[in-house]
Amino acid sequence: MTQTVHVPLDTRAYDVRIGADLLARAGAEIAPFLARRRVAIVTDAHVGDLHLATVTRALADEGIESVSLTLPAGEATKGWPQFERTVEWLLEQKIERRDVVIALGGGVIGDLVGFAAAVLRRGVRFVQMPTSLLAQVDSSVGGKTGINAPQGKNLIGAFHQPALVLADISVLDTLPKRDFLAGMGEVVKYGMLGDAEFFRWLEDNATRILARDPEALAHAVRRSVEMKADIVVRDETEQGDRALLNLGHTFCHALEAATGYGDRLLHGEGVAIGCALAFELSARLALCSQEEPSRVRQVLNELGMKTTLADIAGDLPDAQTLIALMGQDKKVVDGQLTFVLARAIGEAFTTSDVPADAVQTLLRDALSERS
Ligand code: GLY
Repeated sequence: MTQTVHVPLDTRAYDVRIGADLLARAGAEIAPFLARRRVAIVTDAHVGDLHLATVTRALADEGIESVSLTLPAGEATKGWPQFERTVEWLLEQKIERRDVVIALGGGVIGDLVGFAAAVLRRGVRFVQMPTSLLAQVDSSVGGKTGINAPQGKNLIGAFHQPALVLADISVLDTLPKRDFLAGMGEVVKYGMLGDAEFFRWLEDNATRILARDPEALAHAVRRSVEMKADIVVRDETEQGDRALLNLGHTFCHALEAATGYGDRLLHGEGVAIGCALAFELSARLALCSQEEPSRVRQVLNELGMKTTLADIAGDLPDAQTLIALMGQDKKVVDGQLTFVLARAIGEAFTTSDVPADAVQTLLRDALSERS
Protein backbone atom coordinates (compact mmCIF):
# COMPACT_ATOMS: atom_id res chain seq x y z
CA MET A 1 0.00 0.00 0.00
CA THR A 2 1.30 3.44 -0.88
CA GLN A 3 1.29 5.99 1.93
CA THR A 4 1.39 9.75 1.51
CA VAL A 5 3.04 12.35 3.70
CA HIS A 6 1.95 15.84 2.71
CA VAL A 7 4.41 18.70 3.17
CA PRO A 8 2.15 21.76 3.56
CA LEU A 9 4.40 24.61 2.42
CA ASP A 10 1.79 26.96 0.91
CA THR A 11 2.49 27.39 -2.80
CA ARG A 12 5.44 25.00 -2.50
CA ALA A 13 3.41 22.16 -0.92
CA TYR A 14 4.00 18.62 -2.16
CA ASP A 15 3.46 14.96 -1.37
CA VAL A 16 6.00 12.33 -0.44
CA ARG A 17 4.66 9.00 -1.68
CA ILE A 18 6.09 5.96 0.11
CA GLY A 19 5.53 2.34 -0.91
CA ALA A 20 6.64 -0.72 -2.81
CA ASP A 21 7.18 -0.70 -6.61
CA LEU A 22 6.59 3.03 -6.98
CA LEU A 23 9.22 3.38 -9.72
CA ALA A 24 7.29 0.85 -11.79
CA ARG A 25 4.27 3.14 -11.45
CA ALA A 26 6.19 6.39 -11.93
CA GLY A 27 4.29 7.33 -15.09
CA ALA A 28 0.88 7.34 -13.41
CA GLU A 29 2.31 9.16 -10.36
CA ILE A 30 3.93 11.91 -12.43
CA ALA A 31 1.35 12.37 -15.21
CA PRO A 32 -0.81 14.87 -13.24
CA PHE A 33 2.21 17.19 -12.93
CA LEU A 34 3.01 17.42 -16.63
CA ALA A 35 2.08 20.26 -18.95
CA ARG A 36 3.37 18.15 -21.86
CA ARG A 37 4.18 14.44 -21.99
CA ARG A 38 7.96 14.76 -21.96
CA VAL A 39 10.42 14.67 -19.05
CA ALA A 40 14.20 14.74 -18.52
CA ILE A 41 15.74 12.21 -16.13
CA VAL A 42 19.15 12.64 -14.52
CA THR A 43 20.67 9.63 -12.77
CA ASP A 44 24.08 8.12 -12.07
CA ALA A 45 25.75 5.13 -13.70
CA HIS A 46 25.13 2.79 -10.80
CA VAL A 47 21.46 3.64 -10.19
CA GLY A 48 20.86 3.96 -13.93
CA ASP A 49 21.94 0.35 -14.46
CA LEU A 50 19.55 -0.83 -11.78
CA HIS A 51 16.47 1.36 -12.20
CA LEU A 52 16.47 3.63 -15.28
CA ALA A 53 14.81 1.08 -17.55
CA THR A 54 12.00 0.55 -15.02
CA VAL A 55 11.31 4.28 -14.86
CA THR A 56 11.45 4.93 -18.61
CA ARG A 57 9.14 1.95 -19.23
CA ALA A 58 6.69 3.17 -16.57
CA LEU A 59 6.69 6.62 -18.20
CA ALA A 60 6.25 5.18 -21.70
CA ASP A 61 3.28 3.11 -20.47
CA GLU A 62 1.55 6.42 -19.75
CA GLY A 63 2.62 7.91 -23.09
CA ILE A 64 5.34 10.05 -21.49
CA GLU A 65 8.49 10.47 -23.56
CA SER A 66 11.76 10.71 -21.63
CA VAL A 67 15.38 11.67 -22.24
CA SER A 68 18.10 10.78 -19.76
CA LEU A 69 21.54 11.88 -18.68
CA THR A 70 23.74 9.48 -16.71
CA LEU A 71 26.42 11.03 -14.51
CA PRO A 72 29.32 9.19 -12.86
CA ALA A 73 28.39 7.63 -9.50
CA GLY A 74 29.99 9.04 -6.35
CA GLU A 75 30.43 12.17 -4.25
CA ALA A 76 32.97 13.65 -6.71
CA THR A 77 30.07 14.23 -9.13
CA LYS A 78 28.60 16.81 -6.77
CA GLY A 79 30.68 19.75 -8.00
CA TRP A 80 30.78 22.48 -10.66
CA PRO A 81 31.85 20.32 -13.67
CA GLN A 82 28.96 17.82 -13.55
CA PHE A 83 26.58 20.56 -12.45
CA GLU A 84 27.47 22.66 -15.51
CA ARG A 85 27.16 19.60 -17.71
CA THR A 86 23.68 18.88 -16.29
CA VAL A 87 22.36 22.43 -16.70
CA GLU A 88 23.67 22.64 -20.27
CA TRP A 89 22.23 19.25 -21.13
CA LEU A 90 18.82 20.30 -19.77
CA LEU A 91 18.98 23.43 -21.94
CA GLU A 92 20.01 21.36 -24.98
CA GLN A 93 17.01 19.14 -24.32
CA LYS A 94 14.88 22.30 -24.43
CA ILE A 95 13.48 21.79 -20.96
CA GLU A 96 11.10 24.67 -20.47
CA ARG A 97 9.72 26.51 -17.46
CA ARG A 98 6.62 24.31 -17.21
CA ASP A 99 8.51 21.02 -17.63
CA VAL A 100 9.54 18.56 -14.94
CA VAL A 101 13.04 17.22 -14.30
CA ILE A 102 13.45 13.87 -12.53
CA ALA A 103 16.29 13.19 -10.08
CA LEU A 104 16.72 9.41 -9.97
CA GLY A 105 19.36 8.44 -7.43
CA GLY A 106 20.77 8.98 -3.96
CA GLY A 107 21.69 12.19 -2.17
CA VAL A 108 24.34 13.30 -4.67
CA ILE A 109 21.93 13.17 -7.62
CA GLY A 110 19.02 14.62 -5.63
CA ASP A 111 21.06 17.59 -4.41
CA LEU A 112 22.75 18.31 -7.75
CA VAL A 113 19.65 17.91 -9.92
CA GLY A 114 17.51 19.85 -7.45
CA PHE A 115 19.99 22.73 -7.65
CA ALA A 116 20.07 22.51 -11.47
CA ALA A 117 16.26 22.69 -11.45
CA ALA A 118 16.41 25.67 -9.07
CA VAL A 119 18.54 27.76 -11.45
CA LEU A 120 17.40 26.50 -14.85
CA ARG A 121 15.31 29.26 -16.43
CA ARG A 122 15.08 30.70 -12.89
CA GLY A 123 13.41 27.56 -11.61
CA VAL A 124 11.69 24.51 -13.04
CA ARG A 125 9.85 21.82 -11.12
CA PHE A 126 11.59 18.60 -10.23
CA VAL A 127 10.59 15.20 -8.90
CA GLN A 128 12.79 13.34 -6.45
CA MET A 129 13.05 9.57 -6.89
CA PRO A 130 15.41 8.74 -4.01
CA THR A 131 17.03 5.32 -4.31
CA SER A 132 19.07 5.23 -1.09
CA LEU A 133 17.60 4.99 2.41
CA LEU A 134 19.46 8.14 3.40
CA ALA A 135 17.95 10.07 0.49
CA GLN A 136 14.46 8.71 1.20
CA VAL A 137 14.44 9.77 4.85
CA ASP A 138 16.49 12.94 4.62
CA SER A 139 17.92 14.62 1.55
CA SER A 140 14.97 14.22 -0.86
CA VAL A 141 12.60 16.00 1.52
CA GLY A 142 12.87 19.62 2.59
CA GLY A 143 14.25 21.40 -0.45
CA LYS A 144 17.93 21.72 0.38
CA THR A 145 19.75 21.43 -2.93
CA GLY A 146 23.33 22.13 -3.90
CA ILE A 147 26.84 21.05 -4.70
CA ASN A 148 30.19 20.96 -2.94
CA ALA A 149 32.86 23.65 -3.30
CA PRO A 150 36.62 23.18 -2.98
CA GLN A 151 36.17 25.06 0.32
CA GLY A 152 33.68 22.58 1.76
CA LYS A 153 30.60 20.38 1.34
CA ASN A 154 27.22 21.82 0.28
CA LEU A 155 28.50 25.40 0.28
CA ILE A 156 26.76 26.30 -3.01
CA GLY A 157 23.04 25.76 -3.31
CA ALA A 158 19.47 26.91 -2.97
CA PHE A 159 16.28 26.02 -1.21
CA HIS A 160 14.09 24.53 -3.93
CA GLN A 161 11.29 22.19 -2.91
CA PRO A 162 10.46 19.23 -5.16
CA ALA A 163 7.01 18.96 -6.75
CA LEU A 164 6.75 15.32 -5.70
CA VAL A 165 8.88 12.68 -3.97
CA LEU A 166 8.51 8.99 -4.86
CA ALA A 167 10.19 6.88 -2.17
CA ASP A 168 10.08 3.34 -3.54
CA ILE A 169 10.98 1.05 -0.66
CA SER A 170 11.46 -1.93 -3.02
CA VAL A 171 14.70 -0.37 -4.28
CA LEU A 172 16.15 -0.62 -0.76
CA ASP A 173 16.52 -4.38 -1.41
CA THR A 174 19.36 -3.65 -3.83
CA LEU A 175 21.33 -1.46 -1.39
CA PRO A 176 24.64 -2.84 -0.14
CA LYS A 177 24.37 -3.58 3.60
CA ARG A 178 26.78 -0.80 4.53
CA ASP A 179 24.77 1.87 2.65
CA PHE A 180 21.54 0.56 4.13
CA LEU A 181 22.94 0.79 7.67
CA ALA A 182 24.32 4.26 7.01
CA GLY A 183 20.78 5.32 6.07
CA MET A 184 19.52 3.79 9.30
CA GLY A 185 21.79 6.25 11.12
CA GLU A 186 19.48 9.05 9.94
CA VAL A 187 16.35 7.01 10.78
CA VAL A 188 17.42 6.41 14.39
CA LYS A 189 18.35 10.10 14.59
CA TYR A 190 14.67 11.05 14.18
CA GLY A 191 13.68 8.89 17.17
CA MET A 192 16.51 10.31 19.26
CA LEU A 193 15.75 13.92 18.44
CA GLY A 194 11.98 14.06 18.68
CA ASP A 195 10.01 10.85 19.09
CA ALA A 196 10.71 8.53 22.04
CA GLU A 197 7.91 6.21 20.93
CA PHE A 198 9.50 5.77 17.48
CA PHE A 199 12.84 5.13 19.20
CA ARG A 200 11.16 2.36 21.26
CA TRP A 201 9.67 0.95 18.06
CA LEU A 202 13.18 0.83 16.56
CA GLU A 203 14.45 -0.96 19.69
CA ASP A 204 11.65 -3.53 19.34
CA ASN A 205 11.95 -3.99 15.57
CA ALA A 206 15.70 -4.09 14.93
CA THR A 207 15.53 -7.66 13.64
CA ARG A 208 12.72 -6.90 11.17
CA ILE A 209 14.57 -3.84 9.94
CA LEU A 210 17.80 -5.77 9.41
CA ALA A 211 15.83 -8.38 7.45
CA ARG A 212 14.47 -5.43 5.36
CA ASP A 213 10.91 -6.46 6.12
CA PRO A 214 8.88 -4.25 3.72
CA GLU A 215 6.25 -3.31 6.30
CA ALA A 216 8.88 -2.35 8.87
CA LEU A 217 10.83 -0.34 6.28
CA ALA A 218 7.72 1.48 5.09
CA HIS A 219 6.93 2.44 8.68
CA ALA A 220 10.51 3.57 9.36
CA VAL A 221 10.62 5.68 6.18
CA ARG A 222 7.14 7.15 6.74
CA ARG A 223 7.75 8.16 10.36
CA SER A 224 11.13 9.68 9.43
CA VAL A 225 9.60 11.65 6.56
CA GLU A 226 6.70 12.81 8.75
CA MET A 227 9.14 14.12 11.34
CA LYS A 228 11.31 15.82 8.76
CA ALA A 229 8.27 17.37 7.05
CA ASP A 230 6.99 18.67 10.35
CA ILE A 231 10.29 20.37 11.15
CA VAL A 232 10.71 21.76 7.62
CA VAL A 233 7.22 23.25 7.70
CA ARG A 234 8.05 24.99 11.00
CA ASP A 235 11.38 26.29 9.72
CA GLU A 236 11.93 25.90 5.97
CA THR A 237 15.15 27.91 5.72
CA GLU A 238 16.82 26.80 8.96
CA GLN A 239 16.46 29.87 11.12
CA GLY A 240 15.66 27.77 14.20
CA ASP A 241 14.10 24.32 14.69
CA ARG A 242 15.45 22.81 11.47
CA ALA A 243 18.87 22.78 13.15
CA LEU A 244 17.54 19.93 15.32
CA LEU A 245 18.00 17.73 12.26
CA ASN A 246 21.71 18.25 12.82
CA LEU A 247 21.77 16.00 15.89
CA GLY A 248 25.13 14.25 15.78
CA HIS A 249 26.28 16.36 12.83
CA THR A 250 28.79 18.64 14.59
CA PHE A 251 30.81 15.56 15.55
CA CYS A 252 30.01 13.88 12.23
CA HIS A 253 31.36 16.75 10.13
CA ALA A 254 34.65 16.74 12.04
CA LEU A 255 34.97 12.97 11.63
CA GLU A 256 34.11 13.14 7.92
CA ALA A 257 36.69 15.88 7.40
CA ALA A 258 39.28 13.87 9.37
CA THR A 259 38.63 10.76 7.28
CA GLY A 260 38.55 12.55 3.92
CA TYR A 261 34.78 12.40 3.16
CA GLY A 262 35.16 8.95 1.68
CA ASP A 263 34.80 5.27 2.15
CA ARG A 264 36.40 5.20 5.59
CA LEU A 265 33.31 6.81 7.06
CA LEU A 266 29.98 7.23 5.28
CA HIS A 267 27.87 10.23 6.25
CA GLY A 268 25.18 8.14 7.97
CA GLU A 269 27.84 6.23 9.90
CA GLY A 270 29.27 9.53 11.11
CA VAL A 271 25.76 10.63 12.12
CA ALA A 272 25.29 7.47 14.21
CA ILE A 273 28.63 7.92 15.99
CA GLY A 274 27.91 11.66 16.35
CA CYS A 275 24.52 10.95 17.95
CA ALA A 276 26.11 8.56 20.44
CA LEU A 277 28.69 11.27 21.31
CA ALA A 278 25.98 13.95 21.60
CA PHE A 279 24.05 11.81 24.10
CA GLU A 280 27.23 10.99 26.03
CA LEU A 281 28.00 14.72 26.20
CA SER A 282 24.43 15.46 27.33
CA ALA A 283 24.75 12.91 30.15
CA ARG A 284 28.17 14.27 31.22
CA LEU A 285 26.67 17.77 31.38
CA ALA A 286 23.86 16.30 33.53
CA LEU A 287 21.28 17.31 30.94
CA CYS A 288 19.95 13.76 30.62
CA SER A 289 20.19 10.56 32.66
CA GLN A 290 23.16 8.18 32.29
CA GLU A 291 20.81 5.54 30.86
CA GLU A 292 20.08 7.50 27.69
CA PRO A 293 23.54 7.20 26.05
CA SER A 294 23.54 3.47 26.87
CA ARG A 295 20.16 2.99 25.16
CA VAL A 296 21.42 4.95 22.16
CA ARG A 297 24.56 2.81 21.85
CA GLN A 298 22.55 -0.38 22.35
CA VAL A 299 20.03 0.29 19.59
CA LEU A 300 22.80 1.33 17.21
CA ASN A 301 24.68 -1.87 18.10
CA GLU A 302 21.59 -4.03 17.62
CA LEU A 303 21.16 -2.51 14.18
CA GLY A 304 24.77 -3.41 13.41
CA MET A 305 25.84 0.21 13.08
CA LYS A 306 29.03 2.03 13.99
CA THR A 307 28.74 3.57 17.46
CA THR A 308 32.18 4.70 18.61
CA LEU A 309 35.41 6.17 17.29
CA ALA A 310 36.89 2.67 17.71
CA ASP A 311 34.66 1.57 14.81
CA ILE A 312 36.50 3.91 12.39
CA ALA A 313 39.45 2.20 10.69
CA GLY A 314 42.83 3.94 10.44
CA ASP A 315 44.31 6.90 12.27
CA LEU A 316 42.30 9.81 13.64
CA PRO A 317 43.72 13.18 14.71
CA ASP A 318 43.76 14.23 18.37
CA ALA A 319 40.84 15.86 20.19
CA GLN A 320 42.11 19.40 19.64
CA THR A 321 42.32 18.85 15.88
CA LEU A 322 38.83 17.34 15.77
CA ILE A 323 37.48 20.40 17.60
CA ALA A 324 39.24 22.66 15.09
CA LEU A 325 37.59 20.67 12.27
CA MET A 326 34.18 21.20 13.91
CA GLY A 327 34.87 24.94 13.71
CA GLN A 328 35.01 24.73 9.91
CA ASP A 329 31.43 23.55 9.66
CA LYS A 330 29.24 25.98 7.70
CA LYS A 331 26.73 26.09 10.57
CA VAL A 332 29.22 27.81 12.86
CA VAL A 333 28.06 31.36 13.64
CA ASP A 334 30.59 33.99 14.80
CA GLY A 335 33.07 31.21 15.52
CA GLN A 336 30.62 29.72 18.06
CA LEU A 337 30.08 25.95 17.85
CA THR A 338 26.46 24.85 18.02
CA PHE A 339 25.56 21.44 19.38
CA VAL A 340 22.30 19.57 19.38
CA LEU A 341 22.06 18.00 22.84
CA ALA A 342 19.21 16.18 24.58
CA ARG A 343 17.27 16.21 27.83
CA ALA A 344 16.11 12.67 27.05
CA ILE A 345 15.64 10.40 24.06
CA GLY A 346 13.15 12.28 21.90
CA GLU A 347 13.90 15.68 23.49
CA ALA A 348 16.73 17.34 21.62
CA PHE A 349 17.54 21.05 21.69
CA THR A 350 20.22 23.30 20.21
CA THR A 351 22.76 25.17 22.28
CA SER A 352 25.94 27.17 21.76
CA ASP A 353 26.61 27.07 25.47
CA VAL A 354 28.81 24.00 25.79
CA PRO A 355 32.04 24.19 27.83
CA ALA A 356 34.97 23.57 25.49
CA ASP A 357 36.77 21.40 28.04
CA ALA A 358 33.77 19.03 28.26
CA VAL A 359 33.95 18.45 24.49
CA GLN A 360 37.71 18.01 24.64
CA THR A 361 37.54 15.46 27.49
CA LEU A 362 34.73 13.58 25.75
CA LEU A 363 36.75 13.27 22.55
CA ARG A 364 39.94 12.38 24.40
CA ASP A 365 38.11 9.58 26.22
CA ALA A 366 36.50 8.39 22.99
CA LEU A 367 39.87 8.38 21.21
CA SER A 368 41.52 6.47 24.06
CA GLU A 369 38.98 3.63 23.60
CA ARG A 370 40.64 3.03 20.21
CA SER A 371 44.02 2.06 21.60
N1 GLY B 1 19.63 17.28 6.24
C1 GLY B 1 19.28 18.32 7.11
C2 GLY B 1 18.22 19.21 6.57
O1 GLY B 1 17.61 18.92 5.59
O2 GLY B 1 17.99 20.25 7.14
